[in-house]
Amino acid sequence: MNTLAIIGAQWGDEGKGKITDLLSQKADLVVRYQGGNNAGHTIVFGDTKVVLHQIPSGILHDHCTSVIAHGVVFEPEAFLQELEEIKPHTTVTPERLKISLNATVITSYHKLLDGLREDAAKNKIGTTKKGIGPAYEDKIGRRAVKVKDLLDREQLQARLEVMLSEKAHLFEHLYKSEFPPLQEELERLFALGQKIAPFVSDTFSFIDEAIKQDKKILFEGAQGILLDIDYGSYPYVTSSSTGYAGILTGAGVSTGQVEERLGIVKAYTTRVGAGPFPTELFVGIGEIIQEKGKEFGATTGRRRRCGWLDLPMLKYAVKASALTSIALTKVDVLSCLDQLEVCYAYEIDGKEYDCAYPGLDLEKVTPKYKKLSPFTDDFKQSGVYTTELQDYIDLIEKELGVPVGILAYGPERSEIDFRREYFV
Ligand code: GDP
Ligand code: IMO
Ligand code: MG
Repeated sequence: MNTLAIIGAQWGDEGKGKITDLLSQKADLVVRYQGGNNAGHTIVFGDTKVVLHQIPSGILHDHCTSVIAHGVVFEPEAFLQELEEIKPHTTVTPERLKISLNATVITSYHKLLDGLREDAAKNKIGTTKKGIGPAYEDKIGRRAVKVKDLLDREQLQARLEVMLSEKAHLFEHLYKSEFPPLQEELERLFALGQKIAPFVSDTFSFIDEAIKQDKKILFEGAQGILLDIDYGSYPYVTSSSTGYAGILTGAGVSTGQVEERLGIVKAYTTRVGAGPFPTELFVGIGEIIQEKGKEFGATTGRRRRCGWLDLPMLKYAVKASALTSIALTKVDVLSCLDQLEVCYAYEIDGKEYDCAYPGLDLEKVTPKYKKLSPFTDDFKQSGVYTTELQDYIDLIEKELGVPVGILAYGPERSEIDFRREYFV
């Protein structure tokens, strides 16, 4: 097995960064295929914490090449800042970090528009205000700036003129907002282009060649399946294909080239931003989980909403991204709670559903809970669990029909059990 995808199976923040970092030890390439700096992937080793937003989570391993593929929306200024932040921890050269010449650029206009829309909206999505949605809109609308355009002043100017022709009206007349003049944005982006130029290349051919050479490739998803533009809880989603399908278009590979899909599942559920959340716990136990799990957004610092594990939602996620195994993270947070419940079905109009299929109105479903015996593991001995935790794992495996291949019980690199091998 040479190709493995890391896919968030809930509403993001499942611990993808930690798992990607660990599995990168065995990988030659780590590829980000969608999303942008709305992501916040945390890696903890010793007293050090690194949060990556656009740079793949394999970057801390010197043998690994990191690839930002063409499906990503790329913010050059934030990228350079991130590069500075990781300098104390690793040496980054153009051989070790590649940016696709066809990735879509997030400009000042996208960020501004994202913020203005959010502020003006009655039903706010609760976006990260990083310009993700507006940048993907321009990509699909065929008026985006691509990374390669940053290297050619004339081309960049032509692209910006097209992009701004409609947006100027929105800024001036709809939002009554000031916006950077085209010339200023042109100079800013062109200067950034000069700085990132050494990292820019044809990543499609690079990945293609790596596959031919039987290199080990890790595809690192951002966000999660329930935030996917097609599979997620629309309109409260991000603007990209976060799962399996996104890898094919976003990295430029075919189905046989993503042999395993490892879904990352937090032992409970969290969500940042607005949108339905059937198992949300508002006070009491929800606050305890939030506090114990330190559930604050790694990108925006917002408090994450917390709730019990949602099996109908996870069953749907397993189907939607053809997951082959899962990593169960943050089990330590549930350890020592004096109660433990899991949602096994939804009820709506007197009918019970054990899988969240797209026709169900998640705002209206009533979650049905099973009470379980809480567990009190201290995780001092690797791979040895209390009967109660083993029961929790068994229940998840039985209901989802896929094995729990990894169990994480703390933020630190070492706080992990591999219950099966990957990349063999
Ligand atoms: P990602 O976006 O999926 O990479 O996840 P985030 O980094 O946004 O959020 C996960 C948070 O949980 C981070 O602060 C991690 O350091 C932390 N974390 C990851 N795995 C575990 C775990 O097993 N236990 C605990 N307590 N924290 C974890
Ligand atoms: P990682 O990769 C959690 C959420 C936002 C908002 C919605 C749309 O760290 O798991 P956007 O800015 O993408 O247009 O916002 O998606 N969101 C995330 N939630 N983790 C993330 O990334 C997220 N990226 C976006 O909070 O609800
Ligand atoms: Mg995150």
